[in-house]
Amino acid sequence: MSVQTYRNYIGNSWTHSENGKTYSITNPAAKNTELGKFQYSDHKDTAKAISAAVKAQQEWAETPAPSRAAILFKALSILESRTDEIAKSITTEEGKPIADALGEVKRAMNIIEYAAGEGRRMFGYTTPSELPSTMAYTVRRPLGVVAIITPWNFPLAIPAWKIAPALICGNTLVFKPASSTPMTAIKLVEIFIEAGLPPGVLNLVTGPGSSVGNSLVESKYINGISFTGSTEIGTGIYAEGARSLKKVQCELGGKNAVILLADGELDNAMGGIVQGAFGSTGQRCTATSRVIVEESIHDDFVNELVNQTSKLKIGNGLDVDVDISPLASKSQLDTVSKYIDIGINEGANLVYGGNTLTNGVYEQGHYIEPTIFTNVDPEMTIAQEEIFGPVLTIFKAKNLEEAINISNDVKFGLSSSIYTTDLRKAFQYVHTVETGMVHINAPTLGGEVHLPFGGLKSSGVGHREQGVEAIEFFSEIITVYVDYS
Ligand code: UN1
Repeated sequence: MSVQTYRNYIGNSWTHSENGKTYSITNPAAKNTELGKFQYSDHKDTAKAISAAVKAQQEWAETPAPSRAAILFKALSILESRTDEIAKSITTEEGKPIADALGEVKRAMNIIEYAAGEGRRMFGYTTPSELPSTMAYTVRRPLGVVAIITPWNFPLAIPAWKIAPALICGNTLVFKPASSTPMTAIKLVEIFIEAGLPPGVLNLVTGPGSSVGNSLVESKYINGISFTGSTEIGTGIYAEGARSLKKVQCELGGKNAVILLADGELDNAMGGIVQGAFGSTGQRCTATSRVIVEESIHDDFVNELVNQTSKLKIGNGLDVDVDISPLASKSQLDTVSKYIDIGINEGANLVYGGNTLTNGVYEQGHYIEPTIFTNVDPEMTIAQEEIFGPVLTIFKAKNLEEAINISNDVKFGLSSSIYTTDLRKAFQYVHTVETGMVHINAPTLGGEVHLPFGGLKSSGVGHREQGVEAIEFFSEIITVYVDYS
């Protein structure tokens, strides 16, 4: 079967890269199956995309926000009509179970709907002036041309939750999806184009971060950057953006912990922990990677956790019964295996999993067992670094204070959770835990699109994503004084 060649979208047309080079991606559950060829673009293609965005800027900024919203609403209905096809695209290029992929499509729809609604709000405010016969108020303007740089683990939802609010605010965009998951990104762009976006408003360039990403970040025509990915790359983008005072938003890594107190509801906690740690094969920045358990229930908890983990079905994400699908790539598999070896060498106790799976159907994909370590010391590498795979580390704590100290003793601060039925303890936790998102009696995962998403410390910088904070990020506030005396 011949493999489709996908192109960049620049201005008003689908185009090949100037250098004529392409690269291939494969299915994580069928690693010899080529899914498509994509443009291996470089700085020349990026420059063309930027200039298309610059050209389209003024007219798009002058289009009334409710008219921009009408295009987003149209995109929402096209996306809904393509739900199954796009969910399948997510699973075949990223690997996640199809139920998660369907959830991801729904999430993208929610954010587009929310952003479209902002077209009829996008509030500024009025306030009394200190002068007589003077009126003072604020209005919003777009930033201008914005770079959208997204990761591979949510090939649809993360692009959507950056692109939709950026568009409603009147920005024009150059979108660089992760090089390993460009196929779903291209479908999202097709949808916005079909919905009626004018030429140049949304441009897509595929290719490596080292050329496309860097050209975007260094361009003097780019006014803002919204990036999701590793703390290492994000730190570089933030520094480079600062040189030319670009507005930068970075959503980065996590090392999210659940605290389980002896008074917590164990069944509820167990479900949340198993889903948080092993759902999406642990490849999400809000995944649970640590559980801090009150000493008195530690051993019972570990026994039941191992029991429940052993029931999870591992396989191709397109099989609806599968709980754990392959890791997204060979390099992910190598990284996760490396951390498991480090954990063993550092003296943590491997109580479940740890093996790469290579027999039978597993031979076709990047499979690894869900893995649990106990006796983890907070100083260990596996207790500190983001692994981004199905590896859970378990700690013992004497009481809530010690548990919160362990939870906070990492450089990350994205999401956290506590299971307790004691209201005082829950609120003591809410006010001392160092994360941008806090869950009580619920998993560390996810978030709703109308609430801010993001973290403290090394987990991010700049405005939060989603909610009204997204509008804050993708717009500038202009203050107006009118003297009508
Ligand atoms: C989620 O966990 O549901 O890259 C969303 C990530 C985050 C998004 C997570 N920016 O995993």
